Amino acid sequence: MYKTILGIETSCDETAAAVLQKGGDKIKILSNIVSSSALLQTKYGGIIPEQAAREQLKVIIPVVKEALEQANLKREGIDAIAVTYGPGLIGSLLVGVETAKTLALVWDEQSSGILKPLIPVNHLLGHFYANWIENPTPPSFPLLGLLVSGGHTDLVLFKDHMDYEYLGGTRDDAAGECFDKCARLLGLPYPGGPEISKLGENGDPKLFNLPKPMMASGDYDFSFSGLKTAVANLSSQLNLENPQVKRDLCASIEETITETLIRKTLKAAKQFNVGQIMLAGGVAANQKLKTKLQEAVTKLNPDIELYIPPPHLCTDNGAMIAAAAFFSKKIIHPLELQADPSLGL
Ligand code: KG4
Ligand code: ZN
Repeated sequence: MYKTILGIETSCDETAAAVLQKGGDKIKILSNIVSSSALLQTKYGGIIPEQAAREQLKVIIPVVKEALEQANLKREGIDAIAVTYGPGLIGSLLVGVETAKTLALVWDEQSSGILKPLIPVNHLLGHFYANWIENPTPPSFPLLGLLVSGGHTDLVLFKDHMDYEYLGGTRDDAAGECFDKCARLLGLPYPGGPEISKLGENGDPKLFNLPKPMMASGDYDFSFSGLKTAVANLSSQLNLENPQVKRDLCASIEETITETLIRKTLKAAKQFNVGQIMLAGGVAANQKLKTKLQEAVTKLNPDIELYIPPPHLCTDNGAMIAAAAFFSKKIIHPLELQADPSLGL
């Protein structure tokens, strides 16, 4: 319906804005700006919500301005504004939501009272829509989706755009959260996923037999908190000053998380006989997960297509929010939009 959308994303520690353009089936990025407070998180070992929101307040306007400048557009060139309204940290969500509401109100056409359309986007769905961006052969339906991020691990069966069945998810920690918590136990900086992956490259993934709970649970749920506890116990017994011990433990953590994710995804692919699978979320940037899932999918059925966004579109960004908005029929009056920190799928 709309050709050019500004997408705003501030659900966690990133402040992001992007301008995307849709022509036919093709979605093109005109700009994609992400400002991260990850350096602060590294310093303090994780996200401090109040601090994250304060940083976002400082940078949201410059980030939106830069997104428009890079796209070489002024407000007249924007057809609609999309914003993440949940789930996430309330202070962080409010920064994006209130900015988008204000822009929708003040960017009316020559003060005619006709507001810029405002499209609220569920952050979790946004992650999946990274698969439609600059993809010459975007996914079609039915389609199995695995979302693996810092806050979520969800298996979803999509029947059409915005029409889906929730199959299962984590009962405790998310896959990314497990990476982050294990990294912290090993004295590695935040975000932990890339750090564990990097160290694990030269480790033996089979050396430590870590728990894989719920592998045979018969449903599509996950549980990762036991893995973190096992790593906590092991790290008090092992000599982590020995770099090879640390490498082996990292390789085993990565192996355990990726094996668990792959097992349940394949189970769902078989049961629902899907021809297409998509990955999404920060952990989808993990090379081992990508390679092993591709191998497993090809072994199951070489005709199944696997979609994985490029790494910079796996982690939080505004482009995925704008992309999802192209397929949404939801438009809301700015004064009615509320942030919803516990929004689900
Ligand atoms: O999707 P995302 O940017 O934010 C949320 O919505 O949560 O995901 C962040 C998560 C973090 O837990 C981070 O450790 C993980 O994604 N992550 C990775 C990798 N890159 C980011 N985990 C494993 N391997 C990676 N290469
Ligand atoms: Zn996210």
